[in-house]
Amino acid sequence: MKLPELISVLSLILFITIISQPKAALGAELAPSPPKQAYVTLLYGDDYLLGVRVLGKSIRDTGTTKDMVALVSDGVSDYAKKLLKADGWIVETTSLLANPNQVRAPRYWGIYTKLKIFNMTNYNKVVYLDGDTILVKSIEEVFKCGKFCANLKHSERMNAGVLVVEPSKAVFNDMMSKVDTLPSYTGGDQGFLTSYYSDFPNALLFDPNIPEEALKSRPAREMERLPIIYNADAGLSFISNKWKVDKSEFRVIHYTIGPFKPWDWWTSWLIEPVDVWQNIRERLDESLPGTAGGKNPNDELRVQFLFVLPFFALLLCFYRSFRENGDLLCRTSLCNQIRHLYHILMSCVTVAYASVSSSTTTNPNSQVSAQTMVPACLGAISVFVCFMSAVVSLGISISIVPRQVMPWTGLVLTYEWTFTIFFLLFGSFLHLIYQWGKATAQSGPVASRTDSFDSESRKGYQRRASSCDIVTWYYGLGMAVLAVAVPSVPCIFGITALLWRLVLMVVGGLILASFMTYASDRLAARSFLKGLEHRNTTRSRAACFLC
Ligand SMILES: *[C@@H]1O[C@H](CO)[C@@H](O)[C@H](O)[C@H]1NC(C)=O
Repeated sequence: MKLPELISVLSLILFITIISQPKAALGAELAPSPPKQAYVTLLYGDDYLLGVRVLGKSIRDTGTTKDMVALVSDGVSDYAKKLLKADGWIVETTSLLANPNQVRAPRYWGIYTKLKIFNMTNYNKVVYLDGDTILVKSIEEVFKCGKFCANLKHSERMNAGVLVVEPSKAVFNDMMSKVDTLPSYTGGDQGFLTSYYSDFPNALLFDPNIPEEALKSRPAREMERLPIIYNADAGLSFISNKWKVDKSEFRVIHYTIGPFKPWDWWTSWLIEPVDVWQNIRERLDESLPGTAGGKNPNDELRVQFLFVLPFFALLLCFYRSFRENGDLLCRTSLCNQIRHLYHILMSCVTVAYASVSSSTTTNPNSQVSAQTMVPACLGAISVFVCFMSAVVSLGISISIVPRQVMPWTGLVLTYEWTFTIFFLLFGSFLHLIYQWGKATAQSGPVASRTDSFDSESRKGYQRRASSCDIVTWYYGLGMAVLAVAVPSVPCIFGITALLWRLVLMVVGGLILASFMTYASDRLAARSFLKGLEHRNTTRSRAACFLC
């Protein structure tokens, strides 16, 4: 009895659902669509691509289901558009709005394009976020803000990095008609908006906790100011080392400082809140092959190549010196060097007890004649070349390492290349000085003076020549250790205040510079003297300088 009843009930339910299905769909189409809202960002070129990817990830992490729209202009590559789509952005290609201001930075060429968010009338509210911002908490409540909301920074100036806008054809057309006439103090959209909404500094502060009923009971405000937590300036914190409000309150962090964008690898080593950004970046999905963790597949190859190349260069160099010196000799010299390292260490201990004068009296002739033979200008030249080599090698390595690699990769690669290039540049210089010494010895009366020195101390010379190489290595190693230690001191001691970081950097830099001055002077003098001593020997040991 019960089974037929059940069947009939079930079939009735089935019938009703089948019948009601198209009706429901039809009804949904006819009913007024729910308010459409979106997060919007703007991309002019590929250099902000990683920033927008991280922003998108941070928006999705808040659990929002709203649209994410990326307005991209002509300068953006197809690959970037594909990647953003794969990340979940709705990519809308848009033409650039030319900047009417004559006096402006080149990067401001298309910056008025931001005004196009007022033209996005298929949405009734959009939250615009710059590509160098991230959400650290949900900001859904901000969609309740008035028709135009922005932040006020530094007294009366508007910051257009985060905007809440009610798109409107009328407002957009009005703006377009005034673009050529209204002044812009920045030469960009921010200045234009400041002029357009001239009364903005008097706008009321947006209350994130306002209940829906209160909102509905009054007309939407034309303008509202956003609290600072919706546009926390990482630049300001960098300079003063403190945020104006409690950190845990932040909703949006804005990385404003030009050469310290969070995707530049060096920024992580300088600005504290970049960690937040990097954490999100590391969690980026592999939307397209090889893009997990914000990696750029093109950069990967370059990074591997850059990493391996210096080692190959060094190997080649060693191979060359190996061939020139011969197998046995090189090995014995290595043994000798290790043995002399021991001797030097021991003598260091004993020298503490021995007086300086006693060491000079052991070989007075050679010491005196050798010192007087070094040209007077050599010291100055070598110091100049040393510092030039350091600057050039640092400049080259920073320019060849891709900017957007991970912080550690960038640091290691930069050190590797700086050291390699410096080594080659300054090593070549020392080699030249060595040749100079050789040439000086072969011409002129100096030769006769060194003859006596050579014959007198032939035994001692053999030892000195190899220990000389070790001293060269000591100087080199000393410079390298200082170069690594000086920038890492603030990190080791956990000092985040910019002022103290700068003070430590300057002090460390002075120590490094004085050591470099001393070492380069000593090294050049040694190379020169070595050239003098080696004038008759056919075997060129100087090749070892380069390796
Ligand atoms: C504004 O949007 C409309 C579509 O809603 C479009 O046809 C028009 O070209 C847009 N104006 C500009 C200047 O982009």
